[in-house]
Amino acid sequence: MNKSIYNDLINGEAALAVIGLGYVGLPIALEFARKTKVIGFDINEERVEMMKNNIDPSNELDSSEFEGCDISFTANIDDLKEARFFVVAVPTPIDDAKLPNLKPLLGASKTVGKALKKGDYVVFESTVYPGCTEEDCIPVLEKVSGLKWKEDFMVGYSPERINPGDKVHTLQNVVKVVSGCCETSLEEIAKTYELVVEAGVHRASTIKVAEAAKIIENTQRDVNIALINELSIIFDKLNINTYDVLEAAGTKWNFLNFTPGLVGGHCIGVDPYYLTHKAKQAGYHAQVINSGRYVNDSMGFYIGKQTVKKILAKGKSIQNAKVLVMGATFKEDVTDIRNSKVVDIVKELKSFQVEVHLVDPHASSEEMEHEYGVPLKAQADNDYDAVIVAVNHEAYKNKTEADFKGYMKDDLGVFVDVKGIFKDKIKELDYWSL
Ligand SMILES: NC(=O)c1ccc[n+]([C@@H]2O[C@H](COP(=O)([O-])OP(=O)(O)OC[C@H]3O[C@@H](n4cnc5c(N)ncnc54)[C@H](O)[C@@H]3O)[C@@H](O)[C@H]2O)c1
Repeated sequence: MNKSIYNDLINGEAALAVIGLGYVGLPIALEFARKTKVIGFDINEERVEMMKNNIDPSNELDSSEFEGCDISFTANIDDLKEARFFVVAVPTPIDDAKLPNLKPLLGASKTVGKALKKGDYVVFESTVYPGCTEEDCIPVLEKVSGLKWKEDFMVGYSPERINPGDKVHTLQNVVKVVSGCCETSLEEIAKTYELVVEAGVHRASTIKVAEAAKIIENTQRDVNIALINELSIIFDKLNINTYDVLEAAGTKWNFLNFTPGLVGGHCIGVDPYYLTHKAKQAGYHAQVINSGRYVNDSMGFYIGKQTVKKILAKGKSIQNAKVLVMGATFKEDVTDIRNSKVVDIVKELKSFQVEVHLVDPHASSEEMEHEYGVPLKAQADNDYDAVIVAVNHEAYKNKTEADFKGYMKDDLGVFVDVKGIFKDKIKELDYWSL
């Protein structure tokens, strides 16, 4: 394997394939397609059709971002045979028991295995536990291709740091961690990524180090948010406003800036389970990480219960109560509803027979119905007993107390501000936040 894959890519003698064109795969595929020939592969033919028409099915990229790209989209495995550098960016979800579900990743490894040739490179980008690439994916590549890792083909791992909806921290301007399986492969992979990541790359010493680095970035965030969520539960019992406390404590130079809230989505609320699973296999039961997960996974139900208590405290019957929940996506200003914890608030309220209406300026009602059996209301009514602003969408930030009062049935309205963004604006409604 003496030839430089990097040289072949930039000289147009080799093509790069990206397997899985979602939030992560499509942007990286388009970036590479400005520097080299790219084959974008996805198993979802409907999505492939959209991308052929310059439409990003994840709604993150404008059609103008497809322009000037040397890329062909396909759902046909045979088209991958032309590629020599494979980037895998398929989902790594958890199952109902919160254990890693490697099906998409192993499926994609099989796909690559079918197209793999001597001298090829494979770089996994999906978030996994340390050891997954070498212990789970490479054996599939070897078995399906009949080739030998390190002798016939090289493998690396480069985790993704993009943050959907974030126009500041982009693929180009955030340092990317890369790793290889030997010095040469590390250098070839690093140079290839340097083509598209202007901020440069960090060369990790091993694949496992790169895998671990990604998983702890999200685990650290999860645990920190869990601590603040737990503090908000304690402060509620002590009648102290959490945001006032955070503002005061935040004046210290080394106090970390985290706020309470729902931790949903497919990264922070999921990735720590990959690590705890691996830790358990290695004989260690991760206490801190699991406790953090427990706290964060309970917050939607906690918010639902607190709302019920507030309505009851007004002397109202909970079975006749009607609540408006504003925001359904897993975080602000995205269309993504995967693993949205707002659904837990809705479920908890419904378990008390409360009539719940859900609105969102970005989410799709069909997707909400399909995923959770909870469709969106096109328009809010004006007879609610409580309003919960669950997601701090930009579209909500300019709303006034008068707007929220307009949604209420009477002047006993309860206002729940999950992210504390209306703290100083609400004077008359019964206000509660985390
Ligand atoms: N979205 C993020 O913000 C983000 C950030 C960092 C890391 N990650 C990680 O990146 C990986 C991909 O996440 P995503 O958000 O892009 O997922 P996604 O769900 O947006 O997209 C995945 C794409 O892969 C396709 N796919 C599924 N199985 C496939 C297979 N076997 N072969 C080919 N295509 C297949 C799907 O059709 C879909 O188009 C995950 O491991 C995730 O944890 C995501």
